Amino acid sequence: MRSEELIEFLKTRRSIRKFKQQPVSRDILEKILDTARYAPSARNSQPWVFIVVEDPSIKESLSRIHQWAWPLANAPLGVAVACNKDLSPDSYLLDCSNATMYVMLAAHAYGLGTVWIQTMRDNDKIREILGLPSNYVVVSLLAMGYPDEHPAPKPRKPLSDIVFYNRFEAKK
Ligand SMILES: Cc1cc2nc3c(=O)[nH]c(=O)nc-3n(C[C@H](O)[C@H](O)[C@H](O)COP(=O)(O)O)c2cc1C
Repeated sequence: MRSEELIEFLKTRRSIRKFKQQPVSRDILEKILDTARYAPSARNSQPWVFIVVEDPSIKESLSRIHQWAWPLANAPLGVAVACNKDLSPDSYLLDCSNATMYVMLAAHAYGLGTVWIQTMRDNDKIREILGLPSNYVVVSLLAMGYPDEHPAPKPRKPLSDIVFYNRFEAKK
């Protein structure tokens, strides 16, 4: 694939919140999670586990953790990226954010949509719903499925506002 096509692939990912009821095959799901294993992590600690949530009642409970978690309710799948803090005490948030992004991009490669659902204020609740011990932090919950919407791209800050060479300079 040419570089421009790969860049276009990255730029065309969108957060998807409405999904077709079409199921996601186990084969594709496992290819996506297999790809996530290649995300970088500090000391190659790979502190993540992926909990695939298919059970409608568990998905429903997760969709109620806060008011912006509703996309989980209508997605055929939820994927929780949970991190074992003991394996990467300094970097678990970073490691599992990387793994989350790999899941999102691999899903995009298979024509699936995802949205990252915020977890950081609700970890006790989420751990209880998923049966995770206290040394795990759920860094993300992803709603996943075939898109039933085509959202316009969200605006991005111009490069000139966010790129500096050598040293940061406050913008006037
Ligand atoms: C850490 C994080 C938390 C987010 N939490 C939510 C959420 O709880 N609910 C939701 O609908 N979208 C959530 N999003 C999705 C963002 O709103 C979305 O990525 C952003 O608006 C940019 O849109 P795009 O992903 O289509 O480029 C979250 C994204 C990130 C990275």
